Amino acid sequence: MRTDLVIQNGRVVTPAGVKELDVGIAGGKIVFLEKESPHPAPTSIDAKGRLVLPGCIDAHTHMGIPILHTHSADDFASGSIAAACGGVTTLLDFTVQQPGQSLLESLEARLRQAERWCHIDYGLHINITDQPEKWLSQIPQLIKLGYTSFKIFSTYENMMVNEDAFKKILEKVSEHGGLVMLHAEDHGWIERLTRRHVATGKVTPIFHARSRPPRAEAEAIARAGRWARVIGAPLYIVHLSSAAGLEAARKARDAGTRLFLETCPQYLLLTEQRYLDPNGHYYITTPPLRKQKDCRALWEALATDEIDVIATDHCPFTRAQKESGGGNFLHTPNGLPGVETLFPLLYTHGVAESKITLTQLVRLVAAHPAEIFHLQPAKGSITIGADADLVIWDPSSPAWITSDNLHGNDDWSPYEGTPTAGRVVTTFVRGQMVVHQGRFVGDDIFGQNLCSPN
Ligand code: URP
Ligand code: ZN
Ligand code: ZN
Repeated sequence: MRTDLVIQNGRVVTPAGVKELDVGIAGGKIVFLEKESPHPAPTSIDAKGRLVLPGCIDAHTHMGIPILHTHSADDFASGSIAAACGGVTTLLDFTVQQPGQSLLESLEARLRQAERWCHIDYGLHINITDQPEKWLSQIPQLIKLGYTSFKIFSTYENMMVNEDAFKKILEKVSEHGGLVMLHAEDHGWIERLTRRHVATGKVTPIFHARSRPPRAEAEAIARAGRWARVIGAPLYIVHLSSAAGLEAARKARDAGTRLFLETCPQYLLLTEQRYLDPNGHYYITTPPLRKQKDCRALWEALATDEIDVIATDHCPFTRAQKESGGGNFLHTPNGLPGVETLFPLLYTHGVAESKITLTQLVRLVAAHPAEIFHLQPAKGSITIGADADLVIWDPSSPAWITSDNLHGNDDWSPYEGTPTAGRVVTTFVRGQMVVHQGRFVGDDIFGQNLCSPN
């Protein structure tokens, strides 16, 4: 059997469990999974004592998007280098629809930012923010082209869609076999509470959280869930952040809605206490950080397989960008970095602390996003015939997170100083080594567009 590379003796995480196996790679694909394989290969890597995992799929990133007066700090080049160094081999980002632009035009513009810049494989969700009903007719064409997921906001002035448009989008997308993704926060609540706080001069970071309470998330999920059920459409809730939101999702599921739930590391590991820090404005992100009880509820829902995906909502802003709002939550660009720390944090706080199993984690960050966003069988698991998107993780080599060692454009990390129970040693994208001994070596390697493969 022709083999380009064998990764030997690693503890390989396959859908059938964790086994000590050799992984054979040829032409960018996995060609065998065998114990003590007899096949010679020009190159072999000894992974004894290490875990061999499917590359993570970060289903929610925002590279270089406009927010307030600025753009998120990573573009597709820097963000994908950071991703690879953290064990992410596929990212799914979003189109950015400018006012007056059609959905197809927004797709073409966004592809120009990703093509020949992104060092790992990528796909795009279509974000509908302008004249939603006008562009409904482009949805079937986009789905035919391979862009099957459509994201909408239930809040954010100038980008949100109203309930009528939401229903029409749900109908059209599901009729053609696609999936609607929803940023679920009730705009009415947010508007009223923000106005009340601002009127009394309460603009410090904690009032960002007070203006967007869990009940705003719960109400938006309940309402959208009802419409999805009536229409018979599946619905994907992005960045679920609260126990109340989770409870609303449970009720919607019990009533028969087909709901996919995504949460993010920040809602599992950080709390609103951060808003009281001197640099509390750095942590402004939407939805806001919550309370410890919310983190606990989300961990429990991960353990019971009620949450489908963990993604990062990677949307970094540098210290200077965060400072530019003068500490006022209304003027501070919202978003946190996360793509490079996704797997290290979840392995450390999820698997090593026995909150979830390694198999569950791999499902949450690889198999499930691959399944939901139609990337299987090439992506999401270590199986024969799949792309050789692989990560070698060394659990015997503790490390810690510091922005000095991270690879994105951000100059701070919400997780500064956090120890990790291991580190990413090597990352392969379709059999090509992009990270070697923790260093990015993939300058000449560029990702494929998975929505529209050549
Ligand atoms: O604050 C955040 N999360 N910024 C990115 C946009 C979004 O709402 O996901
Ligand atoms: Zn959002
Ligand atoms: Zn987002």
